[in-house]
This record gives sequence, structure tokens and C-alpha cells, in this order.
Amino acid sequence: MKPAEGKLGVMCVGLGAVTTTFMTGVLMARKGLAKPVGSMTQYDKIRVGCGKDKKYLRYNEIVPIAELKDIVFAAWDVYPANAYESAINAEVLKEKDIEPVADELREIVPMKAAFDKNYAARLDGDNVKDCKTRWEMVEALREDIRRFKAESGADRIVVLWAASTEVYVPVSEEVHYHLADLEAAMKADDRANIAPSMCYAYAALSEGAPFIMGAPNTTVDIPAMWELAEKTKMPIAGKDFKTGQTLVKSGFAPIIGTRCLGLSGWFSTNILGNRDGLVLDEPANFRTKEVSKLSTLESILVPEQQPDLYTDYFHKVRINYYPPRNDNKEGWDNIDIFGWMGYPMQIKINFLCRDSILAAPLCLDLVLLSDVAARAGRYGTQRFLSFFLKSPMHDYTEDEVPVNHLFQQYVMLKNAIREMGGYEADEEID
Ligand SMILES: NC(=O)c1ccc[n+]([C@@H]2O[C@H](COP(=O)([O-])OP(=O)(O)OC[C@H]3O[C@@H](n4cnc5c(N)ncnc54)[C@H](O)[C@@H]3O)[C@@H](O)[C@H]2O)c1
Repeated sequence: MKPAEGKLGVMCVGLGAVTTTFMTGVLMARKGLAKPVGSMTQYDKIRVGCGKDKKYLRYNEIVPIAELKDIVFAAWDVYPANAYESAINAEVLKEKDIEPVADELREIVPMKAAFDKNYAARLDGDNVKDCKTRWEMVEALREDIRRFKAESGADRIVVLWAASTEVYVPVSEEVHYHLADLEAAMKADDRANIAPSMCYAYAALSEGAPFIMGAPNTTVDIPAMWELAEKTKMPIAGKDFKTGQTLVKSGFAPIIGTRCLGLSGWFSTNILGNRDGLVLDEPANFRTKEVSKLSTLESILVPEQQPDLYTDYFHKVRINYYPPRNDNKEGWDNIDIFGWMGYPMQIKINFLCRDSILAAPLCLDLVLLSDVAARAGRYGTQRFLSFFLKSPMHDYTEDEVPVNHLFQQYVMLKNAIREMGGYEADEEID
């Protein structure tokens, strides 16, 4: 494991609500003005050793994790507003929590985005690269990464997608299965199969930076990108930050499954009014999110394993754009379960959350742990990061089933940290 020496450059795609909340929190925390609540790397403790030898250590006592003071930020966005202006516009944080780091935020001016309006019709910013082909997009992004690395003096880079959800790109065997085909499609400017996000991912991996997909986009969830990650020896992770409703779902569904109760339906709906909600109001963009949100239950309450309990349950997910709530999403879950002799019961969950407040610690943990993974020589899909993601990447060409169960994911997370720290992985319960 290489040490966490020097600066860690965190390059964020999208400088919207999530990114500015993440950046502001990191800058405030390192001045001692805010607490990074919800971040596993900053708070959680893992048991190492067993029996009388056991002890509980923080992550950075087990593996070398970059310190917050060593992080330097950059971003790309379709809109030219700097991180300060964007944080104010997002209305997630109060001015009193932004002003102490206003100068640092103003210095984060977004680079021109690799963007195609066909992938997010509701956005119309003009801070956009003028590229003739997808391959030119890749080259321009690679140049941005190299320039930022040189100018900031960053020792290592991680690229995090926290930009809008793109329209749904179905996986095509002709284009997305082999790296050579993917590259050929980029050069041939195949705009239908190559989303801008794929250009960011390709650029990051080629420049020796791990890539994290925080939206449900197809992007790195294709065999051609797994091949690139293997070739460049870089970690990848995705998709879709597991923040509000899906966090609840992946933590609550195990209660039903563990007690062998039946499920006849799970209806999830929510209202939100930020720009993310606006983009998701477009049916083609919502489709991407829907696929991601629906995948959670299927691997926790599995019909084939318990046909009496989980055959044909009705699972529906809705997102409604409702401007008055802005980032303060309200989610409702109605769960129809059944018990002894099939008698029905209902559970209602009403989560009044704050989207970006839940997403920011995940950004920090995903960035820091991807950097750790890269220094430990791990590459390809990092399954231990599923804990943070709604729709964990898995090898579907081999029929691999993703782990969605929150507590199984937590065991995977802890074991990866233990292994990277030179301890034995185990399944003992704390
Ligand atoms: N907050 C959460 O709880 C949560 C959970 C899961 C996933 N997400 C995802 O995180 C992403 C960010 O959410 P947000 O609330 O910050 O949204 P946001 O709309 O506030 O910010 C996204 C930004 O990305 C920019 N953008 C879009 N396409 C781009 C491109 N090709 N290149 C560069 N910039 C681009 C937009 O201009 C916008 O400023 C969304 O995809 C959202 O679905 C958020």
C-alpha cells in the first residue's frame, strides 16, 4: 500500500447542489467549523482481530487515508457559476455555513463541460466544450485533467460524477462489450451509444484516475470500461449514490426477509424541487433512475428463494418534481406485507430528508476509499463500495447477482478495509 502523500485532486463532474455541499463541508470541516457527520471514513470504527485481541480502529488507523487538508478541488459544469455562486443558488446550506469558506469556493471555477443536450434536455448552459466528435471530448477532458494536476500540484486525482442523470443508454453488445469497439464508436462519433459521461470516465481512467459514477448512468457499467479499468489498473465504482429512500429500503427490506414475512407490494414516491428533480421530470432521464431504484429489492427479497413469500410483489417507484421543496425531498413508502396464514399488514415510512446533505458524505467516502483502493493496487469494479450505491455494479455477463442488502454490503466494506490494512477478513458479528 502506497502512503497517502501529497495532495489529492478531486475533480467533480457537475458543480450543482451535491458537489457544492460536499466541497463546502470539506472546506468548513478542515477549518474546524463543521462536522463531517455521516461520513464512514471520518467516524466509523472497524473491529480488527478476534476474541481478547480485538480492537476497534478508525479507517485511517487501518489504511492510510488522505486527510481533508490535502484535498484540492476542481469541477466541470454546463453553467459558468463558480462554487460559491452555485452553493448559494442551490439553497442547501445557509449563508453562515458558506461565507467562512467563500474565498476558497470562488476560486473553484468550472471548466467547460463535455455536454450534449440530447442527454439532458432541460439544461441550457453555455459553458460547454466545442468538440466535433466524442473522441475530441475525451482528448479535451484528458487535457483538463493533466492541466489541473500540474497547476494544483496534486499527486493523485479522483474523478467523481455528481452531474445530472443522463437519458437511459441501453447496453449494446456491438459497442459496449469490447474496448476496441467503444473506442471506434467514440472516433466515429456515435452519439446515440456514447454518452458524454463515458468520455469523462474514459479520460479519467486513461489519465490514471479512479472514476466514480454517482448518478445511475450506464457509463462505467459496461464490459468495455471494465476492460479499460483493467488495462489502466484503475478502480471504478457506481452507480447512483444511495442516500434517502433507497438507503431506507436496503436497510428495511432485510427486516421483512430476516423474519420470513411476505411482501405483496412496495410503493415508493417522493417530491423534490431541485435541478436534479427538474432533469428527472423528463421521462427519458427518469427511466435511468427508475431502473436503478427498482433493482434494490430484487436481490434482497428473492422470489426464487422464497416463492411463498416473494412471488409477484408489486414494486413501483415515482419521483415528482415539486419546486417548493427544493432540495428537501420528502419520500413516502407504503409497504404491504403479510404474515401468519397470509394476513395482510401495512408499514408506512415518511422520510423528510435533505438530498445533498445525505449525498455529501458519500462523495467524501467514495473519493477517499477509491484513492485508497488505487494505492493498494486494486483495480476494476470495487464491490466493497456497494455500501454507498443504489445500483451496485456487477458482472452481468457472468450472471453475477449484486449485493443490495445494506448489512451484507457493510461486511464487504469492512472486510476490504481489513484486507487492505493487512488484517484478516472475517464474518464475526460485532
Ligand atoms: N442528492 C442525492 O440524494 C442523490 C442521490 C443519488 C444520485 N444523485 C445524483 O447526483 C447528481 C447530482 O445531483 P444534484 O442535486 O447536485 O444535481 P444538480 O442539478 O444540482 O447538479 C448537477 C450539475 O451537473 C451539471 N451537468 C449536467 N451534465 C453535465 C456534463 N455533461 N458535464 C458537466 N456538468 C454537467 C448541471 O449543469 C448541474 O449544475 C444527479 O445525477 C443526481 O441524480 C443525487
